[in-house]
Amino acid sequence: MTVTIVGSQLGDEGKGGVVDLFGDAADVVARYQGGDNAGHTVVHDGEKYKLSLVPSGAVRGKVGVLGNGCVVNPRTLFDEIETLQEKGLDPDVRVAERAHVILPFHRVLDGIEEDVKSEDDQEVGTTGRGIGPTYEDKAGRRGIRVGDLLDPDVLRDRLEYVVPQKRALVEDVYGADVSDLENPDAFDVDALFEEFREIGERLAEGNMTVNASAFLTDAMADGETVMFEGAQGTIIDIDHGNYPYVTSSNPTAGGAAVGTGLSPTVIADGEIVGIVKAYLTRVGSGPLPTELGGVVGDTPDYDEQGDGENEELATYIREEGGEYGTVTGRPRRVGWLDMPMLRHSARVNGFTGLAINHIDVLAGLEEVKVGHSYELDGEELLAMPPTTEEWGRCEANLKSFDGWDDVDWSAVADEGYEAIPENARTYLEYVADELEADVYAVGVGPGRGETVVVENPYE
Ligand code: IMP
Repeated sequence: MTVTIVGSQLGDEGKGGVVDLFGDAADVVARYQGGDNAGHTVVHDGEKYKLSLVPSGAVRGKVGVLGNGCVVNPRTLFDEIETLQEKGLDPDVRVAERAHVILPFHRVLDGIEEDVKSEDDQEVGTTGRGIGPTYEDKAGRRGIRVGDLLDPDVLRDRLEYVVPQKRALVEDVYGADVSDLENPDAFDVDALFEEFREIGERLAEGNMTVNASAFLTDAMADGETVMFEGAQGTIIDIDHGNYPYVTSSNPTAGGAAVGTGLSPTVIADGEIVGIVKAYLTRVGSGPLPTELGGVVGDTPDYDEQGDGENEELATYIREEGGEYGTVTGRPRRVGWLDMPMLRHSARVNGFTGLAINHIDVLAGLEEVKVGHSYELDGEELLAMPPTTEEWGRCEANLKSFDGWDDVDWSAVADEGYEAIPENARTYLEYVADELEADVYAVGVGPGRGETVVVENPYE
């Protein structure tokens, strides 16, 4: 039995909390895409753990797997494992030999390309972790995989092929001098070989590398339950998202099959839970038809965005929801829930259930709106269009709901679904009806206990 957790919007939907909650019943928690661009906080026994690569289940004694669809920065991997060990935990993390390795030059190239793009306001606003450049090398068949670190001859051959190309890219295309960079060793074959050969030895000594497909298949044959922890979100999926303002992997449910080596039938036999934030946030640029206020520097055509009242509302929601980037502290753009986005997301992922977070953040507002549909060139659209340019021209048709009061949300979490204020339930049921999926959980506060569980997908 598997449960796949997928972000239905632009990331930051509160997936970590749901993985933590439902993952309790899982024996193995596997990531299938992305790398250390994710960010999740787990609170366990009063201790706060911030993880970006290691699956959060590792904090609770689950086996954590980084599938072949992930890109792995071994420095981050070992840093996170050591931090957990220092806190007295004994994380069991396995890494797919087919996963690609983020090398130091990938981070450098990520930064250079963003700088160059920013000259024409075309930057994506990446996390700077080298994610895109690593997936580029994977697709370009010049990447280095975790399994290659275990064989020094293969590692050296691969580095000797790829590093001169990267050096030439920096020097000949971008016109920078590698020796002037902060870490010129990132482009030095011998230095890279030494560091990554040692990493290979460490992975082998720790018995950490696996054939993810075989490992997970065997675990399931032994009756173990598996959770697939999607990172990022559907609208930043490289195929189904808002290209080019996307990450370079597939956070969507199909990624769980490709990124672990399990059959799509295995994923489809289980549950696919879409995580929805009750409103919308976005970090960085790109369209956002239901945007309320806007953030200078991120919101396109900032001057034309919203009026004073909407701006106030956006600020209120941002403050109540703590909507600031976990790593950068950047304020997130805020908008109403966007149903055409969610219908697209539900179709692409096939959600069997939903977890809707942060309804407490909207409490106290007199009126809560959603973008029910879009208007584009005189036509009503129920799902977002495929191109970013068209999406940018969509106007949201708003639908209004009566607001709900702020209540003792911890008590609501204890008492269950019926204790949620009626107007909030009307809102939740509208979303569930539109997406044709049941509400499995409702997030009513930041703590692990502040979730109303309607149905546990493992039961
Ligand atoms: P990258 O994944 O670092 O290449 O960044 C590409 C885009 O995805 C940028 O717009 C990032 O802000 C966004 N992104 C990457 N990871 C996350 C995440 O965990 N939450 C929200 N946005 C993310």
